[in-house]
Amino acid sequence: MNANATNSYHSNAFVNWYFVMKAVGLKKDIPGLFLEDIAKPEIQKKDDVLIRIISTAIDGTDFSLLKNHLVDAPEKEDFLTLGHEMIGRVEAVGSGVHTIAVGDLVTPTNRRGCGICSACAENMSDYCYTGLYKEHGIHFLHGYLTEYAVSQEQYCVKMSEEDIALGVWVEPMSIAIKAFDEMLRIQLRAPSSCIHPEHNWDQPRWQGCKRALVLGAGPLGFLGTLWLRAHDIETYVLEVVPEDSIKVKMIKKLGAHYVDGKSFTPKKIMEAIGHVDVIFEATGASDVALAFIEMMSRNSVYLLMGVPRAQENKVCFDVNAILRHIVRQNQVILGSVNSNAEHFRKAAEFLRFIQKRFPGMLEKGITNRFALEQFEEAFSFTDGERLKIVFDISKP
Ligand code: BGC
Ligand code: ZN
Repeated sequence: MNANATNSYHSNAFVNWYFVMKAVGLKKDIPGLFLEDIAKPEIQKKDDVLIRIISTAIDGTDFSLLKNHLVDAPEKEDFLTLGHEMIGRVEAVGSGVHTIAVGDLVTPTNRRGCGICSACAENMSDYCYTGLYKEHGIHFLHGYLTEYAVSQEQYCVKMSEEDIALGVWVEPMSIAIKAFDEMLRIQLRAPSSCIHPEHNWDQPRWQGCKRALVLGAGPLGFLGTLWLRAHDIETYVLEVVPEDSIKVKMIKKLGAHYVDGKSFTPKKIMEAIGHVDVIFEATGASDVALAFIEMMSRNSVYLLMGVPRAQENKVCFDVNAILRHIVRQNQVILGSVNSNAEHFRKAAEFLRFIQKRFPGMLEKGITNRFALEQFEEAFSFTDGERLKIVFDISKP
């Protein structure tokens, strides 16, 4: 971290101070996190939307980019603003914008298509074929740990005034929603694991007849648990924090069972639970993720959500056994990344339902709030008492 991180930064040396804003992010050449002055974005194209950012949350990706000093700065720049989970208010719109007006609350998606492939042409850049996409706060576009952002009409999902508290949850929820949508489609390939037709995967509820294991009770594991419990799936959540930690308390309030990952082997855990229809992996730790592949139940789906980076300790696995099981037990291991505006809309709707089904949970899940200037504190400790970390940037 840089203690006197107030040096000015802007791509144009003649930029007027009135047109700069604060941003927290990474520098290409120097490891650490910095608070910089960067140029305030402006409306340039017809479909542009200028957003004044109200709150931005951070997640494992932000920590990972910092820790591993991964800096895909925008072209010709050497600074990348972090953050990709945001809610803000529209301050200006381009002449061609019709569905969004000044004053609206919006949360923008973070990926921008390659402009080449069929997926991006259909506004489904989360399935981009070329890999030449950009992502706000991650790959080649500034993120939202700053005061303003320019997005385009098609990427801005409108939120209502009641949604302010859940706004920063929409992006990560959309990631989980997309993966569960895929899981539902995959599971329809096989007969259901219980004998009740009303609990088939194309039904809305499963009344405890379906079982899931969530690996990790961080923000994404919490959202995965929310989805599973909202659909009445018997849910087990594996974590390695003490049982009285906020993470465990939250999952218990959702009616999920805590599994102490330190005391039991994956084999013992799976034997105790029995048939598990879906594993939702949200640890980003490859040793944990791999250990449970070997333990998958028949006809089950494994949703890989974490993005592991280099781990210090190398792990050994019986690859023959893993591959044999996958084939002989009809297992599906599914990687799922990113989400599009459609998933954002679904996520917003689902979160509104959650506000009624589990009142106060989304608010409680935000354990820490910081101002941009407190970026060092916000990014510094990673104790078990933190769930979602949010930066409050401007008044709603
Ligand atoms: C974001 C995704 C993104 C992924 C990989 C995640 O944290 O939520 O939108 O695609 O990181 O860059
Ligand atoms: Zn049943």
